[in-house]
Formats: sequence, C-alpha cells, structure tokens
Amino acid sequence: METLFIKGGRKLGGELDIVTAKNALLPILAGSIISDKNVILKKVAKFSDVMYMVKILESLGVEAKFEGDTLILSPKHAYAHVVKDEYTKKVRSSVFLLGPLLSRFGNAKIAYPGGCNIGNRPINLHIKGLEALGVKIEEKHGYIICDGKNMSAGEVHLDFPSVGTTENLMMASVRLKGVTTIYNCAREPEIEDLQNFLNSIGCKVSGAGSSTIVITGVESFKDCEYQPIHDRIVAGTYLIACAMCGGNILLKGCEKKYNQALIQKLKQSGAIVEDLGKDIEIKSNGKLKSIPSIETQPYPGFPTDLQNQILAMQTITKGTSVVVENLYESRFKICNELLRMGADITIKDRMAIINGVERLYGANVVASDLRGGAGLVLAGLVADGYTTVEDIYHIDRGYLSIEEDFCKLNAEIQRIRD
Ligand code: UD1
Repeated sequence: METLFIKGGRKLGGELDIVTAKNALLPILAGSIISDKNVILKKVAKFSDVMYMVKILESLGVEAKFEGDTLILSPKHAYAHVVKDEYTKKVRSSVFLLGPLLSRFGNAKIAYPGGCNIGNRPINLHIKGLEALGVKIEEKHGYIICDGKNMSAGEVHLDFPSVGTTENLMMASVRLKGVTTIYNCAREPEIEDLQNFLNSIGCKVSGAGSSTIVITGVESFKDCEYQPIHDRIVAGTYLIACAMCGGNILLKGCEKKYNQALIQKLKQSGAIVEDLGKDIEIKSNGKLKSIPSIETQPYPGFPTDLQNQILAMQTITKGTSVVVENLYESRFKICNELLRMGADITIKDRMAIINGVERLYGANVVASDLRGGAGLVLAGLVADGYTTVEDIYHIDRGYLSIEEDFCKLNAEIQRIRD
C-alpha cells in the first residue's frame, strides 16, 4: 500500500512542465487501431490509465514499444476484437474502443467498462449513437456485442454532449462511405485533439470544438507522428494549489485558453494569473476570497474534473461558497475527508455549501477517486501539520507523480511504500 505524507504550510514556487493529457491520450490510443499504419505518439505521459490502455491494445495484437516517452504502435497485425473484463474494469475509457474496432473489423465485443468511483456512468448514449449509424447491439453476459455489417454514414443527434460518445462516434464513422454528421457534440479540447490525430492518420474530420462534427469516410490511411495536447486538469490542479498555498509558479507548455473557466474563478478569489503564450504564471498571497457560486458544466463551462480541487480551496477562503455538481452524483466524497481536516461543509443533493475556515488541520485521509484524491493533496499542502493520504492509486490514474511535481514546486510531500 502506498500513501502520501505531506507537511503542510509551505508557499509554492518554481516551474514545471505540464504533461500530455490523459483524456486526450486515451481516445487517441484507442483510435490507433483504426488503420493498419504505424502511429508514433510523442511525449506520452505514462499515467496508469494510459498504461492499461496500451495493455488492452497489446491484447488486441497491436505491437507497442516505448522509447523514452515516445510510444511506437504498429497495429498492422491487430487481430482479436474481444476486450475482456480484466481490462475494462480497470479503465472505463476502454469503451472508446467500440468505435475504432467497428471501423477496423466491422464488429466489436467488449466487457462493460469500470472506472472512477464517482457515480453512475452509463453508456446508453454510446449505444444509441452507434445504433443510429446502423450498428446492431446486444448486451449479454456482461458484454456489449456490436455488429457493424450494416453500418452506414448518416446523422446522429446526441441527447447530451457526452465527451466519450462524441469521440466514439467520430472514430466509428471515419471509414463509412459518405458523410456522417454528429450534432450536439461535446466541445472539449481533447475532442479537437482527437480530430487532429485522426486527420494525421488520413481521416477527414472537421468541426470538432464546435457542436457539429462532420466526418467524410476514407479508404486509405498513412503513418503518423503526433503529440497530444497538454493536460489542462493537471495544470488546473497546480494553479489551484498555488492559489491556496500562496507563492508564485510557472506552468510550462500549457495554454491558458483551455482553462479560462478556472482562471476567471482564481482571479475572482484574488490570485494573479498571467498568460505567457505557451506558459501560465500564477501569483497568490494565499489570502483568498470565496467564490459565491461554482457550477460544473460541459466545456467551456467549469470542468467537473476540477470541482473537488476548487472545493478544497473554498474551505480556506473568506466567506461562503456554493458548489453545484451537475455531471456526477457521487462527486462529493471528498467532503467527509475535508471535514476531518476541520472544514465546514454541508451537502444537499448536488450542492455543497462551504463556509471558509481560518485553517485546515493535517489528518489521516483516504482518496476515494482520482480528482477527490488530488483535492485532498491540496488540502494537505495548505493544512497545519501533517496529512497522510491513503489509496493514492486513484491519484496515479491521472497524475504522473504528484509528489515529484509538488516537490519541484517547493512543497514537502513524499510517497511512502509499505
Ligand atoms: C470524460 C472524461 C472525464 C470527465 C468527463 C466529463 C475522458 C477519458 N474522461 O468522461 O474525465 O469527467 O468527460 O467532462 O475523457 N452519460 C450518460 N450516458 C452515456 C455517457 C455519458 O448518461 O452513455 C452521462 C455521464 O453519466 C455524465 C455525463 O453524461 O453525467 C458526461 O459524461 P461524458 O461526457 O460521457 O464523460 P466521459 O466521456 O465518460
């Protein structure tokens, strides 16, 4: 068992390179199986979720080789199309393989996906979208079985702008003869990144970043070399940490435009955020005003993946804040742990009401999901005394080495291996 041991109370300082995005890498990795041509991915951040996705690809016959942080994928000899539950229960994003497998083989069979512990995460929108493209789907013995022999290009209207569904349908359509149009798409930057990747392997996709995506089917593909975008959630987590702890940090290789919703809130609390083109700098004296209202929304609204971190920040601001979680019903698990650290939080359904306190106190706390775990680390960094965070395997799913990053930023934090 591994834990993080944190001595709170230090101001942050220094600079850090921001890694490539987990949520960009996962669909891109899944998409690498669409063609039989080689894919070279640069600066691959080896998050545990990413490494599981590479294992899944290998189980499907894709040859995968790391040279440093460059990943070379040869999908030429990919053969199987059954993704077993020993893989899918580890990483929910395995559902992204439905689209690519249907594209390449005309059918797909995957076990129901697992994933983060943040509430009900159905896949009905994925299924409905694929059915709109003519895929016949059966759900049997814990497997989703897709028969794509009658698939055809057409129009799909999503009931909700789901990120994964948008990505799955884009990848399912790239070989279909004619034009497929997806309406009410999610607009997350990672979707635009997937579009750029798909185009770099020879697909014809346009419109990502807007709510309508148009895919023209192609028959031939090419080798590609691609570097995914930076991780805006990792960058956002470190910006919030600096706002809370006080100090001055420079995050390199991350564009401000992807974190506008967060930056506006940080400025509202009194932090100074500078846009330096490809870098972001933040300065804070650690004395923050509370943000009266924070509500998670699909992009470009405030991201649910930064909700727990900014909620942790509200516990030590001056005033009262209301945080509303619109995407995942179980995303307030962090609150019980923050209460143990002296926070004042009341939960009502999807709303958390936070009265800022003078200080948090170090405690033994347990991460119950990825972003909640990150929120607890931030709380530990600002708290008086020592904090231990348990079950940090959740955090490793989306942060490469959170303790090394924070050590570079002048914090006192270490990983303890039992
Ligand atoms: C992606 C991100 C995740 C982020 C989420 C929302 C990746 C790998 N993960 O997840 O980090 O928290 O976007 O920004 O990119 N829904 C349904 N039926 C479906 C699919 C989704 O009801 O078939 C609901 C979900 O329960 C949730 C909402 O739609 O309430 C958003 O989910 P979605 O946008 O699909 O998120 P993911 O792609 O799973």
